[in-house]
This record gives sequence, C-alpha cells and structure tokens, in this order.
Amino acid sequence: MKTFNLFFQSPPSSSITTIFATAAITFLLFSSTMVNSTANLSKTDMDLLEFPLNLEYFEAEYFLFGSTGKGLDSVEPRLAAGGPRPIGAKQANLSLLIKDVITQFAYQEVGHLRAIKKIVKGFPRPLLNLSAQSFGTVMNAAVGKPLSPPFDPYANDLNYLISCYVIPYVGLTGYVGANPKLESPVSRKLVAGLLGVESGQDAVIRSLLYEQADEKVSPYKMTVGEFTQKISQLRDKLGKDGVKDEGLDVPIQLGPEKKTQGNVLAGDQDSLAYGRTPQEILRIVYGTGDEKAPGGFYPKGGDGVIAKGYLKTKPSKNLD
Ligand SMILES: *[C@@H]1O[C@H](CO)[C@@H](O)[C@H](O)[C@H]1NC(C)=O
Ligand SMILES: *[C@@H]1O[C@H](CO)[C@@H](O)[C@H](O)[C@H]1NC(C)=O
Ligand SMILES: *[C@@H]1O[C@H](CO)[C@@H](O)[C@H](O)[C@H]1NC(C)=O
Repeated sequence: MKTFNLFFQSPPSSSITTIFATAAITFLLFSSTMVNSTANLSKTDMDLLEFPLNLEYFEAEYFLFGSTGKGLDSVEPRLAAGGPRPIGAKQANLSLLIKDVITQFAYQEVGHLRAIKKIVKGFPRPLLNLSAQSFGTVMNAAVGKPLSPPFDPYANDLNYLISCYVIPYVGLTGYVGANPKLESPVSRKLVAGLLGVESGQDAVIRSLLYEQADEKVSPYKMTVGEFTQKISQLRDKLGKDGVKDEGLDVPIQLGPEKKTQGNVLAGDQDSLAYGRTPQEILRIVYGTGDEKAPGGFYPKGGDGVIAKGYLKTKPSKNLD
C-alpha cells in the first residue's frame, strides 16, 4: 500500500518511470505466485509427480464407489476432468465399520488428487476397469487357477478388504521409489505427504486382515493369509525385480530381523519400505508384466508422459 501511494504522489514528469515500476512490481507479484505452482519444477519432477495420478484415480474411484456407490463425477467432477467413467465400479456390501473406514480413504484420495493437481497439470481420469471380473482375473492369476465361483470384491467386507490389499501398497512403493529421484523440496514434500497417508491406509487394511489371517475366505479353501501371500507373489512376479512385496505371514527369513513369521507390515531386511519404479508399477497394474502392454485395470493404459512413453514404444498395433 505504501509503495502504491508513493507512485500516485509522483510528479507527472516521471509517469513513464511509474508505468515501468508498476509493471515490474506486477510482474514480480505475478511470478512469485507462479513459483508456488508449476513454474520452476524440473521436467523430471513434473513427470514423476503426475505419474501417481494413475493410481490415485484408481483408488479414489474404487473407494468412493465401494463405500458410497458414487464416484468422482458426483463428488468432485472437476478432478475427473472429463475422463471416461470407470467400468463396473459399484457399491460393495459392507458393514458399518468397513464402510466408514473406506469412506474416509475415499475422501483422502480426493484430497490426494487435488494436492497433486495443484503442483502439476497432470491429465484427466484414465479409463479404469473396476469390474468384479477385473479383480477376479487378478485373483485367478494370483492363485494360479480359476476360482470357482469367481472372486467378487464387492460381495462382503472380507472380499473387499482383500481387494484393497491390491491397491494402496502399489502406490506406496511408487512413492518410495520416486522420492530419491525428485529434485525439488516442494516435490519431495508432496510425495512424503502422500506416502504417509498411503502407508497408513495400507497399515489399516493389513491390520484388519491380520486379525482374520487364519480364517478361510469362504467359499474357497484358502485362508486370508494365503490370499495375501499369493497376491504379493503375483506382484513380485509381474514387477520382475525381486521381492518387494510380502504377505501377512512370511517365511521367517522375510520377517522383521528374521525373528517372526507374522508380518503385519511389509519391509526389507532393515524394515524399510520397498520402492518400485514406474515400469514395475505399470507391469503390475496392467497385469501383463509388460509396461508396454496395457490391460487389467487400465484397458487403454495409464496417462502422463511416463506411461504414454512406454505405450508408444509398443510395435505399431491398434490398442483398442
Ligand atoms: C522455486 O524456486 C524458489 C527459489 O529458488 C524456491 O524457493 C521454490 O521452492 C521453488 N519452487 C519449486 C516448485 O521448486
Ligand atoms: C473389464 O475386465 C474384464 C476382466 O478382465 C473383461 O472381461 C472386460 O472385457 C473388461 N471390460 C472392458 C470394457 O475392458
Ligand atoms: C453381505 O455381507 C454379509 C456379511 O458380510 C453377508 O451375510 C450377506 O449375505 C451379504 N449380502 C449379499 C447381498 O451378498
């Protein structure tokens, strides 16, 4: 305000200087607001920060639909940015407790989408296949044979929690993998914040499942613990980079300090979270073991510079 008055009190003869000074100040003010958004992030950071939108869209839609029967188009259409509606997503048959927890996760994911899109422009919601069949296919691949009846993630609390075991953990390993590659403190702060809550979601899901680890997943013969081991083994197989995933029960060599077989949280030999690259994550979420071959939950592949870069390197075949 003071500066402003100063300009207005200037004699007419210096009006040209005044115009230049005002323009300079306007420019400075403008560029200082820009600094807080995308202006000075490196390309590496922007690409790495937009990549997780692929998983955050998945989680937001799966949790929103599962708990409330409605998706981003009802809750925060601006964030969907005109992307296609997810295929086959619906409300799950959940108890009050689980519905409550998943509703909280759902809104957390809405926040995550907004937080990322405040820093990078990103892309609209990609096409997601969240149908029961899509999860059923993953479970069949995990157990190595077609389950009969097919696994239905929407059927009850336990099935839904097992299906949730599939998701936040993959995002979590992505954030751990991305962090050391980020150049700006702004990017690292965002990723640390996202990682914290994604890890929390994973811990809640694992704890709820851990209580029932020895119970059978009806009508199948396998226990909850065995399901988690199979899903983790499938992810390691698809990711093609060694052990970065552990079920709720593990061989003792994989337990914390090789001292326990119970494994409520996954971690490496020093109990640090495992990290995964975008390639590994795409191989897993496409269900194909190939970052160049979309499928599974992403029938047309992921979006953003990194995911699209791999799609382009595919031999020229029509993806549709
Ligand atoms: C942009 O640069 C300024 C000054 O160097 C720095 O304070 C700020 O954190 C940077 N912003 C981003 C997004 O990297
Ligand atoms: C969704 O996934 C299921 C199981 O893989 C598949 O049968 C179905 O065709 C998929 N839908 C679309 C539209 O891709
Ligand atoms: C919903 O879940 C409950 C318990 O988890 C189960 O008893 C009931 O049969 C389920 N209802 C439907 C329609 O699947």
